[in-house]
Amino acid sequence: MITIAIDGPSAAGKSTVAKGVAKKLGYTYVDTGAMYRCVTLYALKKGVNCQDDEKVASLLKDIKIDLLVNGDVLLNGEDVTKEIRTQEVVANVSFIAANKYVRLHLVEEQRKMALNKSVVMDGRDIGTYVLPNADVKIFQVASVKTRAERRYLENLQRGINLTKEEIEKDLERRDYIDSHREFAPLRKADDAISLDTSSLTIEESIDAIIKIILEKVGDINE
Ligand code: DC
Repeated sequence: MITIAIDGPSAAGKSTVAKGVAKKLGYTYVDTGAMYRCVTLYALKKGVNCQDDEKVASLLKDIKIDLLVNGDVLLNGEDVTKEIRTQEVVANVSFIAANKYVRLHLVEEQRKMALNKSVVMDGRDIGTYVLPNADVKIFQVASVKTRAERRYLENLQRGINLTKEEIEKDLERRDYIDSHREFAPLRKADDAISLDTSSLTIEESIDAIIKIILEKVGDINE
């Protein structure tokens, strides 16, 4: 069993690249951000204040998240793949991700997912906290400008109208919250390899990571 951890700030292209790496290697892709987004969506649907840690914690027992092989996300059996990407969820997810109870609960689930199969898991704390013994750890970064540009193009396709400046501001705000929260903040693991994808295409980023994996673990079918 081989475990690959990919961490880094928002919109650095982690999920696209992680998905591509998993596909090429035949591993399971685990999108941990989608799990924090599901809890956020559920709290919003229940009318619970996302900054009320105890109230949000009391909802956890009623939440079942399934990450399907095709990338779809189910929340209590309902397909929420699109809904977890809305602006309302984005605006609140950092509060949920800073909630210690939520993190402990989701981290336990994430560790279980990596128990008996090879995974590519992406997030913020995978290499530092969720899978500290991962075989390969990548810290994927890109400049704020590049990330905003990528998110801007993605948004256009989704019909979301935000200027590049607005996106940059929001990314900086989320970077700050993610790296300054008390519990398991966004941080490069000491043994992680940094990969700056600012000037790389998606395919080049995937190839760069596969090369790192091959160099580190040799036999990818272990
Ligand atoms: O990767 P993403 O944008 O889907 O993540 C959504 C939010 O969840 C983002 O604010 C960071 C947070 N997150 C986290 O704190 N830890 C993770 N392992 C994954 C995501």
